[in-house]
Amino acid sequence: MSALPGSPEGTAVTGLDSSAVPGTVEDLPPLTGTTRLECREIMARYPVPRSALLPMLHLVQSVQGYVTPEGVALCAEELGLTKAEVGAVATFYTMFKRHPTGRHLVSVCTNTLCAVLGGQRIYDAVAAELGVHHDETTADGSITLEHAECLAACDYAPVVTVDYEFYDQQDVDAALALVAALRRGERPAPTRGAPLTDFRGVSRQLAGFSQHADAAAERAAVDGPSAGVPTLRGVRLAAERGETAPPMPGVEPAEAREPFQHGEAQSGTEGLPSPGSSRGQTPGEQAADAQVAAADNPAERSGAAQNHPDRPEPAGREAADRDAPAPDVDGQAQSGSGTSVPREV
Ligand code: FES
Repeated sequence: MSALPGSPEGTAVTGLDSSAVPGTVEDLPPLTGTTRLECREIMARYPVPRSALLPMLHLVQSVQGYVTPEGVALCAEELGLTKAEVGAVATFYTMFKRHPTGRHLVSVCTNTLCAVLGGQRIYDAVAAELGVHHDETTADGSITLEHAECLAACDYAPVVTVDYEFYDQQDVDAALALVAALRRGERPAPTRGAPLTDFRGVSRQLAGFSQHADAAAERAAVDGPSAGVPTLRGVRLAAERGETAPPMPGVEPAEAREPFQHGEAQSGTEGLPSPGSSRGQTPGEQAADAQVAAADNPAERSGAAQNHPDRPEPAGREAADRDAPAPDVDGQAQSGSGTSVPREV
């Protein structure tokens, strides 16, 4: 395979870093035949193979820690694109890293709301402690630091993520304790969501493959704790006060609703547990039951119901179809494996 890191080809063609990585080029895990087969498995998920480019880039990043020129070449070969086309995509999105990334990626939100609540102070303190700045990696390879634009969790500001897992409502001391633990090889539990793994592992997950060694670990990640109270606070307050959004021009205003009563039937929540009850068998089902039952208003209950594993299926679909592959352009279900038959692209 052409364009190994360190080759003169990489930077000019792809815009990615082709300089030698720490250690030697030989230290870089190679992209193997398995990687190529997994690329084809990703391609088989889409009606148009080139739609697979983003998860394929996550996949090569999961193997080598960043999008190497070798990874760009592999994606280009499989998709029938030029390396410049693949490089243009890889250099557009900040989740694709252009040079070697540490074991963990620490992102500190310095966008408006987090900044005014201390995000910039957190970033400055962490940068000083680690001795690195934006998009730089500590000498021991444990952490790459970046400042991030809004991480879409403003109501938990200031927010820090590690490998895209959330650590909410941080302050300087909490963030410094977090990075110290990471450097000791620990994996502190995120505030909500799946347990922390590492940057390569989460890159594999973003490529659509499990990063977990066994089904039990995967189940534990799915059943990770969640906390949505701040996000729903505005909805709850509006419902309590009877406040509604102003009517849209030309749209009939919705009928005024009576205040929500626990147990009130809501569209899309039929058959789900009533307040105070739980019928789930697994921790995930029981947690989902509890979230539906604890809803304080119709919007909250509806939102919890949509995330419930036993939620009613939309018309025309059966629960058994939930994980079925999407039909291809001819309306035929795809196999999803795609690993044994090389594809023409
Ligand atoms: S401003 Fe930080 S998460 Fe939105």
